[in-house]
Amino acid sequence: MMTSSMLYYANLPLSMPRMLRVRASNTNDNVPIKKMGMSDEECEAAIVAGNIPEAPPAPPKPAAPAGTPVVPSLSLSRRPRRNRRSPSLRAAFQETSLSPANLVYPLFIHEGEEDTPIGAMPGCYRLGWRHGLVEEVSKARDVGVNSIVLFPKVPDALKTSTGDEAYNENGLVPRTIRLLKDKYPDLIIYTDVALDPYSSDGHDGIVREDGVIMNDETVHQLCKQAVAQARAGADVVSPSDMMDGRVGAIREALDAEGFQHVSIMSYTAKYASSFYGPFREALDSNPRFGDKKTYQMNPANYREALIETHEDESEGADILLVKPGLPYLDIIRLLRDNSPLPIAAYQVSGEYSMIKAGGVLKMIDEERVMMESLMCLRRAGADIILTYFALQAARCLCGEKR
Ligand code: PBG
Repeated sequence: MMTSSMLYYANLPLSMPRMLRVRASNTNDNVPIKKMGMSDEECEAAIVAGNIPEAPPAPPKPAAPAGTPVVPSLSLSRRPRRNRRSPSLRAAFQETSLSPANLVYPLFIHEGEEDTPIGAMPGCYRLGWRHGLVEEVSKARDVGVNSIVLFPKVPDALKTSTGDEAYNENGLVPRTIRLLKDKYPDLIIYTDVALDPYSSDGHDGIVREDGVIMNDETVHQLCKQAVAQARAGADVVSPSDMMDGRVGAIREALDAEGFQHVSIMSYTAKYASSFYGPFREALDSNPRFGDKKTYQMNPANYREALIETHEDESEGADILLVKPGLPYLDIIRLLRDNSPLPIAAYQVSGEYSMIKAGGVLKMIDEERVMMESLMCLRRAGADIILTYFALQAARCLCGEKR
């Protein structure tokens, strides 16, 4: 699955041409060097005797354009540009790398047979769980992306105020997990734990008549949802709901049912962000009223992310996630520096759509901006990145042209 060229490219700077090959010597190697038939001793003796063989002269100093000012050189002890002056040096000193193994591919699924395009997310589809999804997973695996996360579009008729469809063992997500695990036993399947796709109110939790999102009652439902997903074969359950205490409760529920091996990736610092707009269109999961500000974090807050980090750590989370990604690089770095746990970043739908739109309008180079944004998330401290670009970026890392 992983080719050596993929690993090679993964460590190169983004600007390096794909065709580049490391060669033992440079451009003159098609001029045959005539062997003189001398032994090593004879060669050494010739040198000692002052018979120095010819080698090409050092290249002349390249000319500056006419009009270049003649100035004394600055007396600098450090010239950082020295380490950036050639592709090989830049590759040697590159601090961060990006590989398909770092990527998790979020996929939208529905009950239909056809794949329906998502208007606000060019290139993304609601995939038919039995056909389109299986093909997409196979394409991703071909380029080294072996981790996915599933988001279901649930029929309106199955949505209720308590979101009970979330733990239907024969619901869309558990059914899909079983199908995928049957075809690809080694595929890593992440699931989303939250009520919004199943809630007639479009909220991540149960809404009381006065509009309050009920915490502990919601956590009770989330535990049942996580167990149903684990029973179907999920590898990592990911609570994205932001209720208090859900990580510990889910850990206990999983363990009680014998799912000690199932990991929890907690959406630790999930902000009440407008960058989720296209996603809510994709799932038709816009809150019917109000917003998510009583459970998702205030985008103005930084230190508060440490409270969530400490809670999730002590409740037994295996992976901590920050969401959105690029506008929240400082939060990724904060978690990275304050926890030994692996860190995930979610490059969300709005971030994806902005890069796509800029590319379509020819305002930016889509592929380069995509790769740079992913590299920056890694540099900020993300081990893994959830991104709708996973397949496209992995193809790029493999040197495949689209
Ligand atoms: C909901 C959920 C959301 C996303 C992932 N899980 C939306 C929300 O919180 O409203 C957003 C992902 C994206 O925008 O790409 N539990």
